[in-house]
Amino acid sequence: MSVLSTPFDASAGAAAARRAAPAAPSARAAAAAGPALEALGVAKSFLSGAVRVQVLQQLSVAVCPGELTLISGPSGCGKSTLLSLLSGLQSPDAGRVRALGEDLGRMDRRRLERFRLHHTGFVFQGFNLFPALTAVEQVQLPLGYLGLSDRQSEERARQVLDEVGMGHRAESRPAQLSGGEKQRIAIARALAKEPQLLFADEPTSALDADNGQRVVDILHRIARTHGTTVLCVSHDPRLVRHADRVLTMEDGAIRSDWRQPAPESAGPAARRPTVPPSDSDPEDFSR
Ligand SMILES: Nc1ncnc2c1ncn2[C@@H]1O[C@H](COP(=O)(O)OP(=O)(O)OP(=O)(O)O)[C@@H](O)[C@H]1O
Ligand SMILES: [Mg+2]
Repeated sequence: MSVLSTPFDASAGAAAARRAAPAAPSARAAAAAGPALEALGVAKSFLSGAVRVQVLQQLSVAVCPGELTLISGPSGCGKSTLLSLLSGLQSPDAGRVRALGEDLGRMDRRRLERFRLHHTGFVFQGFNLFPALTAVEQVQLPLGYLGLSDRQSEERARQVLDEVGMGHRAESRPAQLSGGEKQRIAIARALAKEPQLLFADEPTSALDADNGQRVVDILHRIARTHGTTVLCVSHDPRLVRHADRVLTMEDGAIRSDWRQPAPESAGPAARRPTVPPSDSDPEDFSR
């Protein structure tokens, strides 16, 4: 069974995960009705010594469900900061962030952690694997928190490792793997939960051409076949080619918003260009 082309709902493991995730149905329904992710007039600054550096100011953006959206822009312009706000890793100083229709700022820490566990996956440039765990154990780990038994989580972990072409390295530890192999395991770990939202920060930048291409293909396939919303920070031209939409950031604001042209068969609404959202009304949730 292909885990990237067959919904996990068919498995007993998914049923267990759903039982442990009472928030899921409302979040799914909300996601179907509007954007998967929204930043509404968000601001974020950091203290650098005695100086406060304003990284994001009055930034608004809406990310459509089931699309592969790319954020690119020069180093230091705030891409990773925006990703961390939209994924709930950090909270904004001002403004609001909504994910799957829920306001992340209104959740207490526990609820936010649960939301992130059940609905989001994250792939980092540096892989973030545990040195002592084998590949299959890395992928199993979050599934244990979702309430799957060891047998269920191992079965699912092996399926997803097969899907990213790493089934034969299931017993290997990170020190025995190349960068590209580690990244595919990190993707498998994020995917095994079958999240509705997948965040990836420069997932190909540490990889050679072949391994980068494999990761690009996997991310593309996830959005296409699962309907997962994939938000990815990347400069990789291969990812740009596969993206439904490319947002370009500069100095903490979104400067351009390019969308893959819709097929001629689509209606005029689908072909309407998207509006650069950086200076728009923060109360407008409609984009
Ligand atoms: N925790 C932090 N503390 C202090 N400054 C920070 C922190 N996180 C980010 N910054 C600063 O915020 C700015 C934006 O950082 P961010 O990581 O979002 O940039 P980026 O666009 O992802 O850059 P890159 O392409 O190099 O990864 C940078 O000047 C950075 O130094
Ligand atoms: Mg970054």
